Amino acid sequence: MNELDPAELEPGNVLNFWDARAYLEYYYAHARVPDDEAEMFRFFARGLADIGRHFEAGIELGCGPVLHRAAQVVPWVERLDMADINDDNLEEIRRWLRGDPGAFDWSVYLGGENGALDAEDRRGTLAEREALMRARIRPVRCNLRAAMPLGAPVAYPLVSSYYSIEWVIPTIAGRRATMGRVASLVSPGGWLLLAGVHATDYCMVNGQRGVCAHVTQADLRRLLGELGFDPATLRITVTPGLRPAESGIQGTFMAYAQRGCDA
Ligand SMILES: C[S@@+](CC[C@H](N)C(=O)[O-])C[C@H]1O[C@@H](n2cnc3c(N)ncnc32)[C@H](O)[C@@H]1O
Repeated sequence: MNELDPAELEPGNVLNFWDARAYLEYYYAHARVPDDEAEMFRFFARGLADIGRHFEAGIELGCGPVLHRAAQVVPWVERLDMADINDDNLEEIRRWLRGDPGAFDWSVYLGGENGALDAEDRRGTLAEREALMRARIRPVRCNLRAAMPLGAPVAYPLVSSYYSIEWVIPTIAGRRATMGRVASLVSPGGWLLLAGVHATDYCMVNGQRGVCAHVTQADLRRLLGELGFDPATLRITVTPGLRPAESGIQGTFMAYAQRGCDA
C-alpha cells in the first residue's frame, strides 16, 4: 500500500506493481551471498571504518523490505530510521524486528560466508548483530517525491539509500530532483552512502519490467559535486550486474561522500 495516487505514477514505475514479498524472494532468497552483495558489504564496511564516526542518527531512504545493509550501519549509529513510502515494505521490516516466524530470514546475508560480519572480520556474533538491529532500527514513512520527504524539515548526519533514487521518478530529470531532496536530508558535514543500478534502464520486478533512470558513474560524480558533496571525499566503484539478461541489471554502483559544511 502506497500513499500516492496511482494516477501520479509514471508508466513502468515499480510502485504500479510492487509486491514486497515477491521482491524479497526474487532478489534476496539465496542460499549464499551473491558476489555483488559480497562486494558491496566489503565496500561499505571499509567506508564506514574510514569515515570512523559514531552518528547519533541515520536514515535509510527507500529501504524496501530489506535489512541486510542496515545490519552494517547499526554499529555506527545510535538510531537507524528505515524509510519507505510503501507500508507493505515497512511491515516486512516490522515483522523481522518483532521476530515473527514468517519474517524473511536475513541470516545468510548477516552471518554467512562473505556476509556483513565477514566483511568486518567478524567483530561480534550474528545474535549480537541481530539484537543491535532490533534495538536501533525504527521504521518510518517517507515520500521522496515530496519537497519535505519526512513531512518536516529534518536532516541526518548519516543518510543511506540503495537501489532507490533512480526508481522514485524514473527519468533523468526525476532522478536529479530526487537526489536534490535526498541531499537536503544530509546535515552539513554529514555523509551519504549510495548504491544503485548502473547504466541500466529497467529491471524485473514482480515479473514485470520496472523502469528506472539511466545513471552512470560520471553522472553521479557530477551531480554529487553540484549538490555540495566534497569531491575529495567521494569514493565510487562499479561492479557488473548478476544475471543481466534475466534481471535487466547491467551493473551496480556504490559510493559515499561527505556534504560540505557550508553546502
Ligand atoms: C528497487 S526498490 C529498492 C529496495 C531496497 N532499498 C533494496 O535495496 O532492495 C525501490 C524502493 O523505492 C521505494 N520508493 C519508490 N518510490 C518512493 C517514494 N516516492 N518515496 C519513498 N520510497 C519510494 C519503493 O517502495 C522500493 O522500496
